[in-house]
Formats: sequence, structure tokens, C-alpha cells
Amino acid sequence: MVKAAVIYEKGGPEVFKWEKIEVPDPGPFELQIKNTAIGINYVDTYHRRGMPHPWPVPELPLVLGFEGVGIVKEIGENVKNFTKGDRVAYALPPHGSYSEERNYPAEKLLKVPDFLSNLKDQDLAAVMLKGLTAQYLLRRTYVVKQGDVILVHAAAGGMGLILCQWGKELGATVIGTVSSEKKAEQARKAGADYTVIHSKGDFESVVKKVTDGEGCPVVYESIGRDTFKKSMNCLRPMGMLASYGHASGAPDPVDVIELGMKGSLFLTRPAIMHYMAKRHHLLESAKDLFDILGKGKLKSNVNHIYPLSDVGEAHRAMEARETTGSIVLIP
Ligand SMILES: NC(=O)c1ccc[n+]([C@@H]2O[C@H](COP(=O)([O-])OP(=O)(O)OC[C@H]3O[C@@H](n4cnc5c(N)ncnc54)[C@H](OP(=O)(O)O)[C@@H]3O)[C@@H](O)[C@H]2O)c1
Repeated sequence: MVKAAVIYEKGGPEVFKWEKIEVPDPGPFELQIKNTAIGINYVDTYHRRGMPHPWPVPELPLVLGFEGVGIVKEIGENVKNFTKGDRVAYALPPHGSYSEERNYPAEKLLKVPDFLSNLKDQDLAAVMLKGLTAQYLLRRTYVVKQGDVILVHAAAGGMGLILCQWGKELGATVIGTVSSEKKAEQARKAGADYTVIHSKGDFESVVKKVTDGEGCPVVYESIGRDTFKKSMNCLRPMGMLASYGHASGAPDPVDVIELGMKGSLFLTRPAIMHYMAKRHHLLESAKDLFDILGKGKLKSNVNHIYPLSDVGEAHRAMEARETTGSIVLIP
């Protein structure tokens, strides 16, 4: 038996129950992992509340959590290329990382390269899901080029600080939106060239000013309802609205004609599980992520560490917009 945070109903952060669970022997094509550090992601809060999401909420009872780092403890039948004791990391469904131990499919598991041996488990757990997401958003959803001006919402959040750093590394000018001066400072430290505090400024006017009225080639839109419409106004003709999250709630329905009137815009709702569905895509993205971490060009920003048993408090703080950077749980 191991300890895990289990939910039996959807709802607020109080639904987590800290209790003992049985982890069966790993099945065929699975491994058993002893987690050493676990990442929290905003998607975990959507699923805890039962909000609509591209990855349907699984059946209850459920142990949430997509992201973790740990050590291989047991190996199921037909698993190749892993041995007991390997240091591994993961960031894809199924849920189950809010647990001391778990079983996980081999085809989605990543071996941590030796050149990252100096990187602490908590630093790695903080950037697996968010780092792979940033990789596909910046390199596949829209290919960011030197000189592009990109708009990043929630720029001091877990995703935001990674997009700012990686976007700069690719030669972009980054405009970041945040809700406070403290967050603006963090976003600038991560590379944002311009920051806009929602209560004090208007990001649409800043985008127009910085781009001489043209607009951005891409907007990384993670807030949803509160910012979606204005984000659309920040694009240049043929620009891409990458609506990759909805922290403030699902955006209103989109009028397709409006996409045309605003400049033949592209709209996508990308999700990591589709971009990483093929193992070769997962490996390519992970290589990029591990390389940038290895070069020291991407910092993890683990600004909040909680014991796993306090996951409810971590969720509360995240949804209350009290956190910056990444949140990690230690089992
Ligand atoms: N599609 C994908 O593959 C994928 C993968 C990973 C993450 N995501 C999305 O990326 C976004 C960021 O995820 P994260 O885990 O890094 O979280 P996060 O950015 O650390 O936290 C969410 C941030 O959203 C901002 N926000 C704006 N309005 C909000 C509201 N009404 N309620 C709560 N927060 C609000 C807050 O920043 P301010 O206070 O500065 O505004 C808050 O800190 C989420 O939307 C998530 O769903 C998508």
C-alpha cells in the first residue's frame, strides 16, 4: 500500500482525500514508478472541477496528476529499454501522479539523460508537461522565428515563464500579460521585453504600439473567457490564435466569419496529448527540452513546494492566482 491523494467527487480543492491505495503489479507494457517529485498543472484543476477539456475527465474515484519524475521500481511484461533503478520522467495521460507510486505505460515514459544528473528532480518535474507544451507551441503550432513579436498571457505562471525564456532564446520579442507588478518583474526577468498588468494597461494597445499597428504572428492564449476576444484583435493577417488553455473559463463561441474579417486568422485549440501521441514526436520534443535545460538556457522556477499530502492547498493557491512559476509536490 502507498499514500495518494484520491478524489471521489468533482469540486473544489477540498475534495482530495489523503489515503492508502493499492498499486497492483505493473501490467504488460507498463512500469511501476516510485515518484520523487510531482508537477501540478492547471489542467489538474479543470479535471478536479469537471470542466470541459480536450482530454475527457476520467471516471471517479481518481488519482489526478499527469506529471512526475521518479525511479523505475518494477517492470511489466514486454517492456524493453528500461531497467529497475532508471531515473525517469513523464507528462502525459493517464492521470495518477499524485501518489507515492504508480504504474505508467512504457511508450509514454522518458529516460532522463545523464547530462541532466545535476538537475534536481523537483526542477525537472516542474518543466516536463509545461516544457513539452512550450516546445510544441513554439516549434510546431506556430514556428517562432527571429524577430517575431509574440504575446504570452499569464507570463509569470508555470507555462508563461517557460514561454518567455524559450521565446527569447528563439529570437522573439515577448509581450507578457500579468495581474501584478511582482508578476511583471518575474516575467521580465524571464525575458519578457514588455509586460502589461491587466488592471493598469491594455495589452491590445501595447501590441499595436510594439508592432507598429500590424499585430503579432501568434498569440499564446491561456486565459480564455476574460481575454480571448481581445487576443484575436492582437493578430496580424494570417496570424495564429493558439488557444491552449482557459484559466478564467471557456471562451465564448467563435463566429467563423469574424476570423475572416479580422484578417484570415487561424484558430486552434492545441493539446499536448495530441501533439505527443506518436512516440517519435514525444522523443523529438523531449530532446529539445532536455537540450535547452542542459545548456542552462531554461530555468525551472520552482517557486512553490508542498508535501504531496497538501495538494489541496496547492490547488487553492494556484486557482487564487497566488502562485508564480511552477508548483511541485514532494511525496
Ligand atoms: N494545451 C496544452 O497542451 C496545455 C498544457 C499545459 C498548460 N496548458 C494551459 O496553460 C495555462 C497555464 O498553465 P499553468 O499550469 O502554467 O498555470 P499558471 O499559468 O501557473 O496559472 C494560471 C495563471 O492564469 C492566470 N489567470 C488569468 N485569469 C485567471 C483566472 N480567472 N483564474 C485563475 N488564473 C487566471 C493567472 O496569472 P495572472 O494572475 O498573472 O493573470 C494564473 O497564475 C492553463 O490555461 C493551462 O490549461 C495547456
